[in-house]
Amino acid sequence: MVEKLIVKLMYDSSQPHHYLAGNFAPVIEETPPTKDLNVIGHLPDCLNGEFVRVGPNPKFAPVAGYHWFDGDGMIHGMRIKDGKATYVSRYVKTSRLKQEEYFGGAKFMKIGDLKGLFGLLMVYMQQLRAKLKILDISYGHGTGNTALIYHHGKLLALSEGDKPYVLKVLEDGDLQTVGLLDYDKRLKHSFTAHPKVDPFTGEMFTFGYLHDPPYVTYRVISKDGFMHDPIPITVPAPIMMHDFAITENYAIFMDLPLYFRPKEMVKEGKLIFSFDETKKARFGVLPRYAKDDLLIRWFELPNCFIFHNAGIADLLYLSRITEVNLAPLWYEMRFNLKTGLATQKKLSESDVDFPRVNESYTGRKQRYVYGTTLDSIVRVTGIVKFDLHAAPEVGKTKIEVGGNVQGLYDLGPGRFGSEAIFVPRVPGITKEEDDGYLIFFVHDEITGKSAIHVLDAKTMSSDPVAIVELPHRVPYGFHAFFMTEEQLQEQAKF
Ligand SMILES: [Fe+2]
Repeated sequence: MVEKLIVKLMYDSSQPHHYLAGNFAPVIEETPPTKDLNVIGHLPDCLNGEFVRVGPNPKFAPVAGYHWFDGDGMIHGMRIKDGKATYVSRYVKTSRLKQEEYFGGAKFMKIGDLKGLFGLLMVYMQQLRAKLKILDISYGHGTGNTALIYHHGKLLALSEGDKPYVLKVLEDGDLQTVGLLDYDKRLKHSFTAHPKVDPFTGEMFTFGYLHDPPYVTYRVISKDGFMHDPIPITVPAPIMMHDFAITENYAIFMDLPLYFRPKEMVKEGKLIFSFDETKKARFGVLPRYAKDDLLIRWFELPNCFIFHNAGIADLLYLSRITEVNLAPLWYEMRFNLKTGLATQKKLSESDVDFPRVNESYTGRKQRYVYGTTLDSIVRVTGIVKFDLHAAPEVGKTKIEVGGNVQGLYDLGPGRFGSEAIFVPRVPGITKEEDDGYLIFFVHDEITGKSAIHVLDAKTMSSDPVAIVELPHRVPYGFHAFFMTEEQLQEQAKF
């Protein structure tokens, strides 16, 4: 009743929810494994395994605001075995989802509500519910909707405000949520959606950002799944830090001026995170096995915000995407540890995001980055292949083949995709880096049908290697992952 009153008095319900409309809208039901999908073309042997992509799929209608980051995580998967394909979709069964299922409605606080005094009251609402033991937030309040990664025999569903959720991929492709992972109670803070697995050492590197000093905590997880002690990364103020990077010897943190400012939210009616255009972008380079942050070196570059980065070519070179006014452009940044100077260079003119690489090369020298081109409402319009050895062509106003753009797969009118994952034909670094395939979801807004496309990453031919037709619409979502057959079988040992 209290919540209803607050919403009635203070929330402007006349604004439509863009992220609940069209193909951003959730699908109502999960889909159990659906076998023998129609495959146009051929699914190569290296694709044996399961391709998974997660995204927000709110089970219950929001009581007030809704942000795309708020939806319950749903994983859409395609099990591939010997050329045959099976589709499945399952919720990440988070503590939050289970509790809302019990109540039959949305009860947890949403990022979409965190604006102005109304936002503060919605924070109090959640605190009150927790105090009265209506909601149990001791198992976190995350959605698991952002990204997926495999480490130490487990597929993890991640959202940056919570701990990882472990999932098990069954032989028939079905996905089971096992539960929250706290590394034998050693993990007491949130965990980024973008940890990095070093393909040579098998270690996973991660961090979490918090609202209290030191604001960022860095962790190394051994190949055997042991989480080492926390390393505080002290930054001047609480920020949102979505991604980071590793090289063979360093971890690189991005202290960017998207501040967590609850006071301004209430006083000035702003969102809880506000971007400060007057502040510089800072990059901290830390020896990756450091025990504290005494050795961190901070570099400054012009004001920007970055969601994602890719491709550390060597110790001093970082390629990434910078985002100013929501138009993410592709940049290269270099940090010179000898001189302490940082430089940057623009590599693309048009909106690019979701950068991925051949992950056999994570943290090492690499040449190719695969990204997505975006339209003004962050729908993916094409898949682009960058060659870091080539210079960008001068005078370009959009992404076209030429210069550092080695290939472009344009999805065509009315069709929109999602993050493309590179699957090598042969794992490891003995073969050519771009010898493999790109796999991603595509939705056709005209026919209402969804599919999975597979491209030859080397040629970027406009003629896909395979198109797999899906039985249901797959909403737009966030990050994807490819779990190999070997990883799928390996889960049983853990
Ligand atoms: Fe992300």
